[in-house]
Amino acid sequence: MKILVTGGTGFIGSHTVVELLDQNNDVVIIDNLCNSSESVIKNIEKISGKKVPFFNIDIRDKKALEELCTKNKFDCCIHFAGLKAVGESCQKPLEYYDNNINGTLVLLEVLKKYNCHNFVFSSSATVYGSPKSNPIDETFPKGTCTNPYGWTKSMIEQILIDLHNANPDWNIALLRYFNPIGAHKSGLIGENPNGIPNNLMPYITQVAVGQRKELNVFGNDYDTPDGTGVRDYIHVVDLAKGHVKALKVIKEKQGLKIYNLGTGHGYSVMQVLKTFEKVNNIKIPYKIKPRRPGDIAACYANPQKALKELGWKAQYTLEDMCRDSYNWEIHKKN
Ligand code: NAD
Ligand code: WQD
Repeated sequence: MKILVTGGTGFIGSHTVVELLDQNNDVVIIDNLCNSSESVIKNIEKISGKKVPFFNIDIRDKKALEELCTKNKFDCCIHFAGLKAVGESCQKPLEYYDNNINGTLVLLEVLKKYNCHNFVFSSSATVYGSPKSNPIDETFPKGTCTNPYGWTKSMIEQILIDLHNANPDWNIALLRYFNPIGAHKSGLIGENPNGIPNNLMPYITQVAVGQRKELNVFGNDYDTPDGTGVRDYIHVVDLAKGHVKALKVIKEKQGLKIYNLGTGHGYSVMQVLKTFEKVNNIKIPYKIKPRRPGDIAACYANPQKALKELGWKAQYTLEDMCRDSYNWEIHKKN
């Protein structure tokens, strides 16, 4: 398949491109590099041993997209491009709605014009809001998001559902990711947050290499086994492989399908911290702090639908994720 990957130099996009190339797909990457760097391309090429065409294009740039689609006939688009910082989205809602929603609309319009009706979208478990129970399956209702970022995911899902209802020729996979961490085992690609990380794992790895003093554990009074927040952490390589499997929806023209991509296991902040210390043989200083506004106690997936229908199941353990995240942080520093 010839696949347009938006946001392909980012964290999840770059790992997915590696897996797509491994399965002999023809990939073209576009990214405006607002949260990644062009050097990622050379590292993808090192890992895969293949050349990948890259274009510095903003998904809101209709003219550039049209030019690209005139020169390339895409079978499918996997759409990762977007802004994703929860806190920042509360400070800059208009930027988030413009980049994520307007950007997706422009992209969809161009794809429609050039008869590419196959689309895979990076959604998030955040669309479930505060779930009534765990594990969460795809029949759970979408909830109230606590930030503009979350709303962009929820709204784009609705746009894609409406698009498919209006024209069933569209084949669309909505993939709801749980908490991606880890990195490619080569240490050549991984997550590269700007400034102070918001997410748990990049914060831990920065403490591990001495870039930050200690981890702040946001709350130890939740209704969870040890009081700290529980999440479904998934290795980014497993997540990437999930995208390759999701192409089944496109190849078999299945219409619109929704899948959770998670492991089905919930781990607490303290379990992640202790596992990280054990596998990397390193001490991570931490302090208990008040709960972070907007956080929920626990969130983990029921991933059975993806197993049954796509034949996809996460393989990597929390130990693997902690080891590969640290390995990437060390490579990044050197
Ligand atoms: P990332 O920031 O590493 O990658 C996103 C890429 O999109 C970046 O390279 C950025 O430069 C690019 N981009 C942003 N706006 C663009 C625009 N207007 N035009 C072109 N390129 C643009 O983030 P990621 O973690 O790889 O996330 C990929 C997708 O998955 C995002 O849509 C994100 O919302 C979604 N997602 C991420 C997580 C997570 O925890 N990382 C969880 C659920 C969903
Ligand atoms: C995990 C746990 C924190 C940092 C976010 C987005 C979500 C999705 C993934 C994109 C929680 C605790 C964290 C720290 C801590 N992104 N924590 N100290 O909040 O589950 O999800 O990223 O779609 O939309 O909301 O992930 O990694 O921020 O937090 O104690 O310094 O770690 O309270 O329990 P979260 P996270």
